[in-house]
Amino acid sequence: METTFIFVKPDGVQRGLVGEILNRFERKGLQVVGAKMLRVDEDLAGKHYAEHEGKPFYPGLIKFITSSPIMAFAIRGVDAVTVSRTLIGATNGRKADPGTIRGDFGLSGGFNMIHGSDSIESANRELALWFPEGTLEYDKSSN
Ligand code: CMP
Repeated sequence: METTFIFVKPDGVQRGLVGEILNRFERKGLQVVGAKMLRVDEDLAGKHYAEHEGKPFYPGLIKFITSSPIMAFAIRGVDAVTVSRTLIGATNGRKADPGTIRGDFGLSGGFNMIHGSDSIESANRELALWFPEGTLEYDKSSN
């Protein structure tokens, strides 16, 4: 079992896609083991996206992520990291396959509705950052 981290970005929340997105994870067989709604501050956004600091899109990304509330989830299941990335699709909605979340609901590369951890190492780092209190059934040794 793995636990991964996803969050529905401001555009996904504003468009009323939280239920639709979560439904895709649940019907696939993945389980929600943590959930919270929050307005991300610059400190958390900077820590989360530290690897992108210095890239041309970074200032816009931080502005976007901190612009309005997001919904964060800890998602658990077999191969949860890889399966979640498959459900989410490629970064750019124009390139994401139909049937994926980004492929079905967007055309943008930046306003792409959802983030999902790209590796087990990222998942562990992001879960510790966003859910410092821990998550249900979440056992760090399982990743
Ligand atoms: P995410 O999966 O959250 O990881 C990094 C984010 O940076 C990505 O989704 C996009 O929202 C954003 N991003 C990545 N590449 C670009 C780009 N070329 N232009 C604008 N935003 C980008």
